Amino acid sequence: MISPLWFICCIIPYVSSFNAEERKLSSHFVLVGEPIAISCQIAKIPTLHSDYNLTWSRNGSDTPITTETHSRIHQQDNVLWFIPATLEDSGLYECNIRNSDSSDKEYIQLHVFKNNDGLCFNGETMYKQKVFMSIGGKITCPNLEYFNDENDTVPEIQWHKECKPGLLQDNRFLSSKGDIYLIINNVTVHDKGNYTCQTTYTYMGIQHNVSRTIYVDVEEGPKKTPPVFVYPKNHSIEVELGSHVIMDCNISSSISALNPYWQVNGEDVNVFDNTYEEQIYEKPSQGGGFIIGTRFNISKVKSKDYSHKFFCRVFHPYGEAVAYILLKRPAPNIQGYLIGGLVSLVFVIVAAVFVYKLLKIDIVLWYRNSCHPFLSKKVSDGKIYDAYVLYPKNRVSCLYSPDIFALKILPEVLERQCGYNLFIFGRDDLPGQAVVNVADEKINQSRRVIIVLVPESSCYSVLEDTSEQQLAVYDALIRDGIKVILIELDKIKDYTNMPESIKYIKQKHGAIKWKGDFTERSHSASTKFWKNVRYQMPPRQTVSPSELLLLPTAFNSPHTITLER
Ligand SMILES: *[C@@H]1O[C@H](CO)[C@@H](O)[C@H](O)[C@H]1NC(C)=O
Ligand SMILES: *[C@@H]1O[C@H](CO)[C@@H](O)[C@H](O)[C@H]1NC(C)=O
Ligand SMILES: *[C@@H]1O[C@H](CO)[C@@H](O)[C@H](O)[C@H]1NC(C)=O
Ligand SMILES: *[C@@H]1O[C@H](CO)[C@@H](O)[C@H](O)[C@H]1NC(C)=O
Ligand SMILES: *[C@@H]1O[C@H](CO)[C@@H](O)[C@H](O)[C@H]1NC(C)=O
Ligand SMILES: *[C@@H]1O[C@H](CO)[C@@H](O)[C@H](O)[C@H]1NC(C)=O
Ligand SMILES: *[C@@H]1O[C@H](CO)[C@@H](O)[C@H](O)[C@H]1NC(C)=O
Ligand SMILES: *[C@@H]1O[C@H](CO)[C@@H](O)[C@H](O)[C@H]1NC(C)=O
Ligand SMILES: *[C@@H]1O[C@H](CO)[C@@H](O)[C@H](O)[C@H]1NC(C)=O
Repeated sequence: MISPLWFICCIIPYVSSFNAEERKLSSHFVLVGEPIAISCQIAKIPTLHSDYNLTWSRNGSDTPITTETHSRIHQQDNVLWFIPATLEDSGLYECNIRNSDSSDKEYIQLHVFKNNDGLCFNGETMYKQKVFMSIGGKITCPNLEYFNDENDTVPEIQWHKECKPGLLQDNRFLSSKGDIYLIINNVTVHDKGNYTCQTTYTYMGIQHNVSRTIYVDVEEGPKKTPPVFVYPKNHSIEVELGSHVIMDCNISSSISALNPYWQVNGEDVNVFDNTYEEQIYEKPSQGGGFIIGTRFNISKVKSKDYSHKFFCRVFHPYGEAVAYILLKRPAPNIQGYLIGGLVSLVFVIVAAVFVYKLLKIDIVLWYRNSCHPFLSKKVSDGKIYDAYVLYPKNRVSCLYSPDIFALKILPEVLERQCGYNLFIFGRDDLPGQAVVNVADEKINQSRRVIIVLVPESSCYSVLEDTSEQQLAVYDALIRDGIKVILIELDKIKDYTNMPESIKYIKQKHGAIKWKGDFTERSHSASTKFWKNVRYQMPPRQTVSPSELLLLPTAFNSPHTITLER
């Protein structure tokens, strides 16, 4: 494999000498009386050092041609000038290049010709160009690069066809001042022929004619297709603020030499922003046409770049083609926000449920306390008691005496501290009344039934299956609206010996287990146990604010509660 470096240093000289035959003789034509400038091809070889001496001489002569610019034939800046040429100038010329270690030579054949009789050109010395009927044409007046005026443009060019003027009167022909092209629209076969272009060159105050004749052939040409935008395609792209974007406009065309350009906000992009410098490129495409493009860099996308469409425009023989691209800020990640929002919502709900579960009782009790006085008075439900209390009586052998609990602690907390009105069987019944009648009547007048359970193990007795209790429980179960609150004075492991109704209530509503002892601390309405009980109790009917005091301020005082009913 040959390394690229080796290629550059060693192949080129070999290639250039290989091409020597071709480049060592070239022909140039000039109409007698007109100027001609000839340059030497070997001087343009890139490997040549800039430090060289170039001289022109006529074949067979050792005297170099003068560099005296007033001379009709002279050398100026390595270019050989004949201003103007005469018939005797025809012949062979050599261009000699010499630098410190080598020399090279090139031959030039100059033909000075006369026009054919009656014509403005010579049929032997014509350039050949081609135009296509399908896509229109453009004729170039060739070899004028040395004949620019001091303003670096070519003076106006006159065009003749078959030596006749007035060509531009047909509006299919266009030629702008300073332009070396003749554009032909809607080409027909009749446009075939000999076109002569003529301009002037003023040297040392003397004006000379410069003319060229082109034989123009007309062909059908490739299919008539307007250029097509490969990119952009009227679309938008998302780009970050401050990012680097290469703005490409690529056009696929059967015609070459189109000039696409970018516009934004009605002005050229370099006017819109002076850092936007366009670069045009063109290369052949596989289909025989061309990919023509123009591009500029947005090195840092600015806010203003988002507010306009960037149009790429191109004029072509059939009109103008336009396509745009719009820069957009990247859309915020909606999906991400949505998922995040949902996750946090779920989290909040879970947290709320958790907190509610944890603090449900406190919340309900707080709500009852704080809001009740402001709520309008409920319509009375016709009940007298908040709860009907049932407990196993006279179980002195029990570890936790149900008597003490039901007759002392329960009234202390629920009645005195919380302001409930209880019916405690054995305290509030009048002696002599029939048990069944009292129970039935009082339960009907109560909002809850509290049943105090004592475990078998601690006192060797279960709740007596007396008719009173049976009745109470059935009542509570059957009648809608009476809720039963089970209180276990100690852990009851085995419910198998309990009545069915108790089992049912336990299973459905559970039981509240007494965790306290019989000390004062357990008599506070704000312990967990009492909060549980209060939660299961109905909200108190209207009580006076003084009775809202829940803390046992004077536990053993003989203070009595007066209920507002
Ligand atoms: C060039 O000059 C040489 C020597 O004077 C001569 O032999 C040769 O024929 C000339 N060539 C042409 C093309 O005039
Ligand atoms: C070019 O010519 C000048 C004088 O004519 C001479 O001084 C100079 O050395 C020459 N340079 C080379 C590279 O031959
Ligand atoms: C060159 O340009 C200047 C100013 O534009 C103008 O006055 C002058 O006539 C031009 N010269 C030629 C030869 O066109
Ligand atoms: C070229 O031909 C088209 C229709 O065939 C016509 O509209 C247009 O004006 C013609 N252009 C010129 C410059 O004559
Ligand atoms: C162009 O010039 C050539 C040579 O003089 C001539 O043969 C030919 O007929 C001319 N073409 C036209 C279309 O006049
Ligand atoms: C230049 O050409 C025109 C006609 O095309 C002619 O009238 C004029 O004399 C010519 N000028 C010179 C210096 O030959
Ligand atoms: C435009 O064409 C150039 C040259 O073929 C290519 O490098 C570039 O990627 C193209 N750009 C787009 C956006 O297609
Ligand atoms: C755009 O930037 C790239 C490098 O990022 C550079 O190669 C290219 O020449 C730039 N093009 C223009 C038109 O400035
Ligand atoms: C793109 O937009 C331009 C002007 O907005 C329109 O002339 C052109 O037909 C559009 N091109 C496509 C392919 O929609």
